[in-house]
Amino acid sequence: MKTVIEVKDLRKTYGTLVAVDGVSFQVSEGEIFGLLGPNGAGKTTAVECLEGLRRPDSGLIQVLGLDPQSEGKALRRRIGSQLQESALPDRIRVWEALDLFASLAPGAADWRGLMQQWGLADKRKSSFSSLSGGQRQRLFVALALVNNPEVVFLDEMTAGLDPAARRTAWDLIRAIRERGTTVVLVTHFMDEAENLCDRLAIMDRGRIAAAGTPQGLITTYASEVRVVFTAGADDISFLERIPNVKTVARHGPRVEVSGSGPVLALVAHSLVEHGITPLDLRMEQPSLEDVFLRITDHPITE
Ligand SMILES: Nc1ncnc2c1ncn2[C@@H]1O[C@H](COP(=O)(O)OP(=O)(O)OP(=O)(O)O)[C@@H](O)[C@H]1O
Ligand SMILES: [Mg+2]
Repeated sequence: MKTVIEVKDLRKTYGTLVAVDGVSFQVSEGEIFGLLGPNGAGKTTAVECLEGLRRPDSGLIQVLGLDPQSEGKALRRRIGSQLQESALPDRIRVWEALDLFASLAPGAADWRGLMQQWGLADKRKSSFSSLSGGQRQRLFVALALVNNPEVVFLDEMTAGLDPAARRTAWDLIRAIRERGTTVVLVTHFMDEAENLCDRLAIMDRGRIAAAGTPQGLITTYASEVRVVFTAGADDISFLERIPNVKTVARHGPRVEVSGSGPVLALVAHSLVEHGITPLDLRMEQPSLEDVFLRITDHPITE
């Protein structure tokens, strides 16, 4: 498949702070590629380097075969950017903003259609300053798509969206991809990444700590299953002696047993043997969140 984004050994510093510390990845045409990572990991910085908004210290970047620094103008016609922090003039109306962005883009999409899809038709005459947080967010996504981009960068697209709007946004992003657009998605929502991304990279402190398909990452980094139930004051230390059990942890009344293989059946059997019959015994499959926490498990850093 055609490579549309190529990043090799990207580095970006702000003074003495190394924000992006040697990052390499590729994105193929029509992929939804996710960038995950704790606050300050360098995701926005990396994406802004790809968009040509920041000058990297070193490394190679090609987006649609173009260098975002020296060929930024040509590139920006072909990409769409929804920035993490955007602003528009307070008084501009929703339709005016869309119309303005469309007028700047040759071959623009039908902005009325976008307005409809992103749930802004009712607000078409509202000023930017009167929109709610989620409505602003949806407007920024619609604006990022107005030039029919070949690659679209979405930095926390669904931050502030209500659950239904989030689902709609996912469907719309899938539809955009079906038309061949490549999507780079920065997100803090693990369900979003798991549902939407073909591949993703988890960034931590400026580096890529892990990359792969959501399921591949789960298999590699979080193969253990968890058995969860509520226990009273009962002594449950006997569970630690089950061969398949790795850890037993208590969080208040909630007990979490991690292990492998038929651990659910073994734990259930052992509990019953000891006269404990929890009503809510259940198994939780490992998720992308487990992978994320495992890879980025360190105190909040400055
Ligand atoms: N303009 C700037 N000047 C100085 N430091 C900056 C600047 N922009 C970002 N940084 C620093 O670079 C690091 C990476 O920031 P970046 O915004 O790329 O992180 P992020 O992964 O997008 O985080 P978040 O999830 O919070 O959006 C942070 O430590 C941040 O404080
Ligand atoms: Mg960011």
